[in-house]
Amino acid sequence: MHNWNRRKPVELDALASHHRLRPTLSWWHLVALGVGAIVGTGIYTLVGIGANLAGPAVILSFGVAGLVCACAALCYAEVATAIPASGSAYTYSYVVIGELIAWIVGWSLILEYSLVVSAVAVGWSGYATGFLTSLGVPLPLAISAGPHAGGIINVPAVLIVFAVAGLLALGTRESATVNAILVLVKVVALALFIAVALPHFDAAQFHPFMPYGFTPREVNGTQHGVMAAAAIIFFAFYGFDAISTAAEEAKNPGRDLPIGIVGSMLVCTVIYVGVAAVAVGSMPFTEYANSPEPLALILRNLGQGKVAAIIGAAAIVALPTVILAFLFGQSRIFFVMARDGLLPESLARVSKRSGTPVRMTMITAVIVSVLAGLVPLDAIAALANAGTLAAFIAVAVCMMIMRRREPDRPRIFKTPLPWVVGPLAILGCLYLFWSLPELTKLFFLAWNVLGFGIYLWVGRNRPQPAVA
Ligand code: ALA
Repeated sequence: MHNWNRRKPVELDALASHHRLRPTLSWWHLVALGVGAIVGTGIYTLVGIGANLAGPAVILSFGVAGLVCACAALCYAEVATAIPASGSAYTYSYVVIGELIAWIVGWSLILEYSLVVSAVAVGWSGYATGFLTSLGVPLPLAISAGPHAGGIINVPAVLIVFAVAGLLALGTRESATVNAILVLVKVVALALFIAVALPHFDAAQFHPFMPYGFTPREVNGTQHGVMAAAAIIFFAFYGFDAISTAAEEAKNPGRDLPIGIVGSMLVCTVIYVGVAAVAVGSMPFTEYANSPEPLALILRNLGQGKVAAIIGAAAIVALPTVILAFLFGQSRIFFVMARDGLLPESLARVSKRSGTPVRMTMITAVIVSVLAGLVPLDAIAALANAGTLAAFIAVAVCMMIMRRREPDRPRIFKTPLPWVVGPLAILGCLYLFWSLPELTKLFFLAWNVLGFGIYLWVGRNRPQPAVA
């Protein structure tokens, strides 16, 4: 049976060696892991979709989503250093609140990580097949799209997931080094966009600034406004939380986790605000709203076709870093849940050679690639946001409970103004959640009902664990 309010002690030293991950990452690996996870399909595609929902005020949507994520990132940095164990929000909830809430949070994290990996894999496949077509090698629809889009299976999406999983199985440090190089490609590509489009900036493009208002309201059957756009753009900002899943693999987690989490968040916010402002200022938003590749479209419109091609190529080379970071995070969350006995424990085995959970990484890759190969993801990508928002709320709550419960405990990283930042993170996430499409909220509820059922089912035959 489950003991639903049992809390987990953090005893990494007591773990058997085959359950212990190898610490190999330094601070710059962590910053790169964070930027690699954050900068992805979101910034490459959502400027257009966001502008369609909010008009030029989409830069406010970027600001709101960024502010909420910054508050959440500060909470993550404090809790991650206080509990430097793998498993992110799932582990923190288990240590601070109790098993049932931890399970629910873990279940939300599965939604976040799996759907992000699948969505980005499908997005990448779109870029890659487009590129192959431009080279005169078109792939048949049957093997380049899932059944929802008239194909049978999206083979490139499946292949990229397995290629990244193979790299992760080789070793965490090797993966982090390749990741750092690719991250540089992505950041340089976005800087190039800003540099080339900036001279065409025209403040007149910002009028009328907020055609659909601030709070979500329905226009033509879809929620519009600054907050409705922020709820979708939120997708572009998260990923810094994936760093916290690497806690047990960091060489100096106390110092390096906050550097990684807060540092990557800051770098990305600066880049995003720059990209969004320049995009809105250099072309009427109605012309790229809903484009799957707004940045390239803007550049082509400015007569910069070559730069547009370079940015497209950079996306193909570098988008897999998002897959890498989230697949890494997902396998670590599954791994810790298995180590805790909430999933079959045999899965929580670390390979002697690489020091990584190879078995879990491959199982995760299979699950995620099935989703990427077959499932219609466009409609449910917002669901990843719902899962992430739930995890962010849990971490902010954990930060505040720990402050109350152990006010004098020495803290390596302290959230500044915790009683402002914590509630701001929670309220901001709740508001973003409320601004999501109705169908997304309904799916999220259904997912949790399913999760609760599985929790009860797993608990029927589970031996009683020791109570902390
Ligand atoms: N932030 C990540 C992206 O934009 C999930 O792809």
